[in-house]
Amino acid sequence: MDKKQVTVAEGSKQAPEKYYIQITEDGPYLVYGSPTIDQEIIAPNEEGSSWEYRKGLKFDSSSACVALCRCGHSKNKPFCDGAHKHVQWDPRETSSMRPILEDAEAFEGPSMVLLDNEKYCAFARFCDAYGRIWNIVQRARTEEEKELLRHEAGHCPAGRLVLYDKEKKEVYEPPFEPSISVLEDPGIKVSGPLWVKGGIRIESANGKSYETRNRVTLCRCGASDNKPFCNGAHASMKFQDGLPLAEEKNKE
Ligand code: FES
Repeated sequence: MDKKQVTVAEGSKQAPEKYYIQITEDGPYLVYGSPTIDQEIIAPNEEGSSWEYRKGLKFDSSSACVALCRCGHSKNKPFCDGAHKHVQWDPRETSSMRPILEDAEAFEGPSMVLLDNEKYCAFARFCDAYGRIWNIVQRARTEEEKELLRHEAGHCPAGRLVLYDKEKKEVYEPPFEPSISVLEDPGIKVSGPLWVKGGIRIESANGKSYETRNRVTLCRCGASDNKPFCNGAHASMKFQDGLPLAEEKNKE
């Protein structure tokens, strides 16, 4: 690995080098370092907006290299079963390799700035609760309002939304261990992307690394036009991985 080429986003820390994901040119994601792989289920608050994550299944990630489905067609999701070789899909990585906040729009309020790069939206909708994050940031002064902003931005799995605290002069990022979650969104009856947390390096099929970030979402439905990242297309194409959503069915 060429360390010089790895850039780390402000507010993020790079995971130990043993953890990384390699994107294959026309096949799966290869996961190295045995990070935890589990299922997280988006759960609503009392008004029906996305609010928290509920833990679901745990998957065996103990092998030195685990292949996760990227085309959306495996019958053994979240793992690859070779289906990508026999189905029609476009595996090309079309995302920019620029740091995502360089192209973000800024929404400035009295205490915080919200940075938003819509292209990376994973359509998880944590930003909609209690009046929408773009409105809340423009008025937030109290600790309660600031906590609401941290909750909503911090739950954005894609890191599309990032908060800058003007008083502390730092980017807010929730602490994550290097891990991967398979997202489920029963509120709209779809399965979501792979949520990659804790600064795991992601290497393109061309050998270059994307900017390392505390949280990103990788497309696993095969339909994003911002690959390898999710752009919410799983919601419109009604992607379903067929996995049960019950904690008690854990495969240890
Ligand atoms: S998983 Fe979100 S666009 Fe494919």
